[in-house]
Amino acid sequence: MKVMILLGAPGAGKGSVAEQLKQSTQYAHVSTGDMLRTAVKAGTEVGRQAKSYMEAGELVPDDVIIGIVRERMDADGQQACYMFDGFPRTQEQARLLDTALAQFGSEVNKVFQLDVPREILIQRLTGRRICTQCGAVYHVINMPPRVEGACDTCGGALIQRPDDGIDVVENRLDVYQKQTASLIDYYQAKGVLVSIDAAKHVDETKRSIMESLAE
Ligand code: AP5
Repeated sequence: MKVMILLGAPGAGKGSVAEQLKQSTQYAHVSTGDMLRTAVKAGTEVGRQAKSYMEAGELVPDDVIIGIVRERMDADGQQACYMFDGFPRTQEQARLLDTALAQFGSEVNKVFQLDVPREILIQRLTGRRICTQCGAVYHVINMPPRVEGACDTCGGALIQRPDDGIDVVENRLDVYQKQTASLIDYYQAKGVLVSIDAAKHVDETKRSIMESLAE
């Protein structure tokens, strides 16, 4: 099992670069945010537990997160290669991931820390639009659709994510600093951290990650 982690604040571009890396690597993209949004939409027990935390920009409790990740890993088995996006987000999640990987005789191989200044994060998040049908991601300035309000791929309506309003965005960025940023030191100490200037174009971020993976 090979494991890389995309670590970065909300809006750092984890999802965008993951979409690109999927085309060029064997890694399966596992986004706990996407898994939770699917659960909320489907009205499952996990979705019911997660909804209010997500709307407020707070972290969903660790036991819920570990449960969905563990279920995914058990289903995929030992040969899988994972690109985790938005996971882990707390020291507890990081420790439990290490324990789960050890059971597969594996460990985290690379952690890419996507570094972006706060004012750019806010601009990216508040301008993001997502397709209600296929989930494609746009940005009103950086990546506008060909026809305003409609998805280029499926024609679905584009909306703002419920947690992308400015108040919730500010809270999500604060939560990242308080509860997640210390993972930079955690993975630095393990010698697997690679810091990347992700304020540039997503193609540049992808190129830096691909170069590091090839080392
Ligand atoms: P999640 O969905 O993981 O959200 P997030 O971490 O806040 O990250 P985002 O998806 O907002 O940003 P991103 O870095 O993927 O940026 P993107 O590529 O989309 O989590 C949502 C919620 O679920 C959390 O708040 C929490 O409640 C819960 N949750 C999830 N995981 C959890 C966990 N492990 N533990 C506890 N709770 C958890 O880009 C953003 C915008 O910028 C887009 O419009 C894009 O087009 C644009 N953009 C991206 N890159 C660039 C670039 N290089 N240049 C210009 N524009 C760019």
